[in-house]
Amino acid sequence: MRRTMHKAGLSIVLAGIVLLGSAASQWVGDRLFAQQDGKAPITMDKAFPNSNKCKRCHERVFEEWETSPLSRSIHSPAFRAALDAFLESPAGKDKALCFRCHAPHVREFPDKVQFFIDQAKSGDPQMDGVACSQCHLIKHVDRTKQPPEPKYEPAGSKTLYGPYKDFAQNLAHQSMELGLFHKSDLCLNCHQAVPSGGNLGKTNDLLGNWDQSKAIKAGKECQSCHMPEQTGESANGEKKRTVANHTFPGRIGKLRQEAAKLDIETKIEGDKTTVTVKVQSLVPHNLPTFTFPTPKDTRTFDVEATLSYAPISGPPPFLQRIEAESSKGSSDPVFQPIDIVKKIENIPIVKQP
Ligand code: HEC
Ligand code: HEC
Ligand code: HEC
Ligand code: HEC
Ligand code: HEC
Repeated sequence: MRRTMHKAGLSIVLAGIVLLGSAASQWVGDRLFAQQDGKAPITMDKAFPNSNKCKRCHERVFEEWETSPLSRSIHSPAFRAALDAFLESPAGKDKALCFRCHAPHVREFPDKVQFFIDQAKSGDPQMDGVACSQCHLIKHVDRTKQPPEPKYEPAGSKTLYGPYKDFAQNLAHQSMELGLFHKSDLCLNCHQAVPSGGNLGKTNDLLGNWDQSKAIKAGKECQSCHMPEQTGESANGEKKRTVANHTFPGRIGKLRQEAAKLDIETKIEGDKTTVTVKVQSLVPHNLPTFTFPTPKDTRTFDVEATLSYAPISGPPPFLQRIEAESSKGSSDPVFQPIDIVKKIENIPIVKQP
C-alpha cells in the first residue's frame, strides 16, 4: 500500500575522481567525505554522505535498499503522524528521540534536530533516515546502554566498515572488515527496545526473549534471516561473490511466509463441530515486534474464519466434463466456494520462550 512511494532523488553528481600519486591502495580524494583541511566544522553531508553517492558504484545494493521500509524511515505516513503526536506530548521535549533510531546521525548533530523534524514533516526529505552511511559508519555498539547505542567515529572518518576482509580497493573510500556487521548487535541498537520516556505503546521490548530462542542459540544472527546471502556484484563491475540482500525482508517479501504454522483439528459432536486452529510462531522473537502507532487498542493479528460450501470436487475427468458443459468454463459458479458465515477476530500473539 504505502510502500510504493518513491524516494526523491537528489541529483548530486560526484565530482570527477582526482588521481593523486600512483598507489591505488592510498586514500585519494573523491568528494565522498570531507577533506581534512584544518578547522572548518564538518557538515552533515560530508560526515554522512547521502546514499545517492553510494549508488554510483553500489547500484545493486542501493536498488535493494530503496525498496525496503528502511528507505522510508523518516517519511512514511505512519512515522510522520506518530512524530507529530509525540512532539505535542509532554515527552516531546526530547525532540531528537525518534530520530535516534529513524535517522541516527542526529546523535552526532544534536543541534540540527529542527532540520530533521522539518525534513520529516516535508514528506519528501532530501536527507536519509537509515541509509548506507548510517549503518556502515557504525564502529561499535555499546550494549551496556539500554537501549544499546551505536558509536560513530568522531565526524570525518573516511572508512566504511563492512563484512569483507578481501575487499577490492576503490577510489572513493577506505574499507575495513568489522565482525559487528555479521552480528545481531548491529541491529539491536535500534531493534531491541524503545525507550520508556516516549510512552510508545504497550511494551517497550520489541524482541522479547529472542536470545533464548533455539535459532539464536544455534548461532543464527538477525542477518541470516533478514539480510539473506545471495551471489552478485558487491560494487558495479567487481567479481561476483557472496553478498547480503539489502531489501530487509520482514513484512515485505517471502520471509513472511515462514512466520507461523497453522494446525487445524476438527471434532464433530451432534450438531456442533469444533474446529481448533493452532497458531505456532516460528519466529525467534516477538511477533509482531512493535505496537506503533501508539493507541492502546492498536491491532495485532487478525484471524479470519469463513464457513463456506466448498466448490465441487471429484476426479479430474469429471471436473473437465463440467467445465466443457458450462458456457462459463472454469469460471462456472460451481467451482467457487460459497460463503455462509464469516468472523474476524483480532488476537495478540506473543512468542513464548
Ligand atoms: C530505539 C529505537 C527507536 C526509537 C527511539 C523510535 N523508533 Fe520507531 N521504530 C523503530 C524500529 C526498529 C521500527 C521497526 C519496527 C519493527 O518492524 O519491528 C520502528 C517503527 C516505527 C513505526 C512504524 C513504521 C511504519 O511506517 O509503519 C512508527 C510509526 C514509528 N516507529 C514511530 C516512532 C516515533 C514517533 C518515535 C519517537 C517517539 C520512534 N518511532 C522512536 C525504532 C525506534
Ligand atoms: C567509486 C566507487 C565507490 C563509491 C562511490 C562507493 N563505493 Fe563502496 N566499494 C567500492 C568497491 C569497488 C568496493 C569493493 C567491493 C568488492 O570487494 O567486491 C566497495 C566496498 C564497500 C563496502 C564493503 C567493505 C568491507 O570491507 O566489507 C562497503 C560497506 C561500502 N563499499 C559502502 C559504501 C558506501 C556506504 C558508500 C557511500 C557513502 C560507498 N561504498 C561508495 C566502490 C565504491
Ligand atoms: C539505525 C537504526 C537501525 C538499525 C541499526 C537497524 N534498523 Fe532495521 N529498522 C529501523 C527502522 C527505524 C525501521 C522501520 C522503518 C519504517 O518502517 O519506517 C526498520 C525496519 C526494519 C525491517 C522491516 C520490518 C518490517 O516491518 O517489515 C527489518 C526486517 C529490519 N529493520 C531489519 C534490520 C536488521 C537485520 C538490522 C541489522 C543488520 C537492522 N534492521 C538495523 C532501524 C534500524
Ligand atoms: C541497517 C543497516 C544497513 C544499511 C541501511 C545498509 N547496509 Fe550494507 N550491510 C549491512 C550489513 C549488516 C552487511 C553485512 C551482512 C552480512 O554479511 O551478513 C552489509 C553489507 C554491505 C556490503 C557488502 C555486501 C554486499 O551486499 O555487497 C556493501 C557493499 C554494502 N553493505 C553497502 C551498502 C550501501 C551502498 C547501502 C545503502 C544503499 C547499505 N549498505 C545500507 C548493513 C546495512
Ligand atoms: C530464524 C530466522 C530469524 C531470525 C534469526 C530473526 N528473525 Fe526477525 N523475523 C523472522 C520472520 C520469519 C519474521 C516474520 C516476517 C514478518 O512478518 O515480518 C520476522 C519478523 C521481523 C520483523 C518485522 C516484524 C513486525 O512485527 O513487523 C523485524 C523488525 C525483525 N524480525 C527483526 C529481527 C531482529 C532485529 C533480529 C535479530 C535479533 C531477528 N529479527 C532475527 C525471522 C527471523
